[in-house]
Amino acid sequence: MTPSELAALHEAHASDPHAFWLEQARRLDWDRFPTLSGDWSYAADDFHIRWYEDGILNLSANCLDRHLATRADQTALIFEPDTPGTGHAVTYAELHAETCRFANLLKECGVGKGDRVVLYLPMIPEAAAAMLACARIGAVHSVVFGGFSPESLAGRIDDCGARVVITADEGLRGGKHIPLKANVDAACDLSQGVETVIVVTRTGADVPMHEGRDLRWEDHRERLSPDCPAEPMAAEDPLFILYTSGSTGKPKGVVHTTGGYAVWIATTFDWVFEPRGDDLFWCTADIGWVTGHSYTLYGPLLHGVPTVMFDGVPTHPDVSRLWETIDRLGVTILYTAPTAIRALMREGDAPVTAFSRQSLRLLGTVGEPINPEAWRWYHDVVGDGRLPIVDTWWQTETGGILMTPLPGATSMKPGSATAPLPGIAPLLVDAEGREITGNDVSGNLCLAASWPGQVRTVWGDHRRFIETYFTTYPGRYFTGDGCRRDADGDYWITGRVDDVINVSGHRVGTAEVESALVAHALVAEAAVVAAPHDLKGQGIHAFVTLIAGEEGSPGLVAELNAEVRKHIGALAIPERIQFAPGLPKTRSGKIMRRILRKIAEGQLDQLGDTSTLADPGVVDQLVRDR
Ligand code: WT7
Repeated sequence: MTPSELAALHEAHASDPHAFWLEQARRLDWDRFPTLSGDWSYAADDFHIRWYEDGILNLSANCLDRHLATRADQTALIFEPDTPGTGHAVTYAELHAETCRFANLLKECGVGKGDRVVLYLPMIPEAAAAMLACARIGAVHSVVFGGFSPESLAGRIDDCGARVVITADEGLRGGKHIPLKANVDAACDLSQGVETVIVVTRTGADVPMHEGRDLRWEDHRERLSPDCPAEPMAAEDPLFILYTSGSTGKPKGVVHTTGGYAVWIATTFDWVFEPRGDDLFWCTADIGWVTGHSYTLYGPLLHGVPTVMFDGVPTHPDVSRLWETIDRLGVTILYTAPTAIRALMREGDAPVTAFSRQSLRLLGTVGEPINPEAWRWYHDVVGDGRLPIVDTWWQTETGGILMTPLPGATSMKPGSATAPLPGIAPLLVDAEGREITGNDVSGNLCLAASWPGQVRTVWGDHRRFIETYFTTYPGRYFTGDGCRRDADGDYWITGRVDDVINVSGHRVGTAEVESALVAHALVAEAAVVAAPHDLKGQGIHAFVTLIAGEEGSPGLVAELNAEVRKHIGALAIPERIQFAPGLPKTRSGKIMRRILRKIAEGQLDQLGDTSTLADPGVVDQLVRDR
């Protein structure tokens, strides 16, 4: 957009927020258009967040039905599986029919409005149809990333009380088979409530089917009607739950509702990507993460822009995979993560320049801070120096993008998410919660005002929701991120300031990893911190104290890694396990993570005052063993 268009949006919001937010709602088809916009308060005694409360709509109808009159036979999504050249396109008519069939099968399984359905699927068209089917009948989808272990899956199934799980026989990624159905079987053994497992065939592997519980999608698909009415949903009816790690305890079920989320995704997709008729949008994120929900699936479909569903990895069959695919399919917008960019940058320019990439018009990044070196390589080599980059900062909890440069309107700075979108009100606070004003300052990033795509609650634990986000700095939403505002007023996200580690753009909670480690019989205590990692952004550094008389060994490291894989999943396996004779603690017994962080980062001259520790000697030992 142009600078004056952007200024006009900011001005429109400032002068009449209610009209501004209702205007954004016009991007959707409503069964009943709302008269209300935002109704919210972060005050402890009157806490509530509601958007478009009297509006009625269906998101699946907005993604599918409204395109049928004009583009039924156009491509809605392109399935790009692990092996290049073996994918296919799915039209709006086909996706609509498939969605309706899924919706009808879910109804036969007794799923209705408000019921939760867990999806544990690869990036196949059926996954899109299954999500849209839930939205169509008003069921709440909770997609669990296929890299999570059976135990994690069971925890999520139990937490949200799902009775139906949709999975596939296997996943296939980077040439590796992922035993999705076997994992679901194991999860069902750990969990009480699963009555039905719908199994989609992906690889055709021979997987055991449990009589009376498991259904094969393909056995039913043909007989199911390709029509299913879209359930009229109140704007504040829940749309999905997505589990995400926080600083403490089990992952939280972040709840997004229908109307506000849909408005925010439609709005941000428009502002940030400025969709055009000839676009092919490729967001590489898996639907198991919020980026996959908002910008692989819902954003493009709401705008009638074909979207690529990539069920592979950027390094398979070789490190040209992304560039070869872009040329073959004619991708116009690439939206990916810094970790992927760094991994490909390491392979040099030749694998990129071997392909033309002429179809591209815009590049995006998301998920973690991008280091300026990777940004420049993305810009200069991938984008031939001609393409703008949107460095989009947001979170599972924000539903969609909150800060990013806008091509044409904002000047880009390598590594900076630059500026908030219209309607978004960032502020920096110090440790005591006092607002830090002016420029060239750093602090903790909060948001002063609600926006339509904001998380509404933590599933089943509204108190935890308020405690997590609204009590650290009363009256404000706390993001958990540290941030710098530079001399020009542009924002630079510096990373998490809570006990969340961002590994390759995936959130891992330190408490979860610690409890997985102490599950091993020989472990007395564990403390987990982040350490900088060239490719992953952050890696996990675990300090582990064993029970008396035991000694660390490579064999034990392998056992501890297996423990993490079992309780969480491979994505949380520590980069480094350091056996420690003791952990630095205050005299009251609190582990001094600040010191452990500095040791893991190698900033040994910045350990600070260790004299208040119960046993200052342990620090010297940890530094020596580092
Ligand atoms: C955390 C949220 C955004 C959806 C995918 C991750 C970090 C995200 C950026 C960015 C710097 C970023 C933040 C945030 N983050 N995007 N462009 N620049 N940091 O969602 O798993 O909820 O993680 O990712 O630390 O809090 P998530």
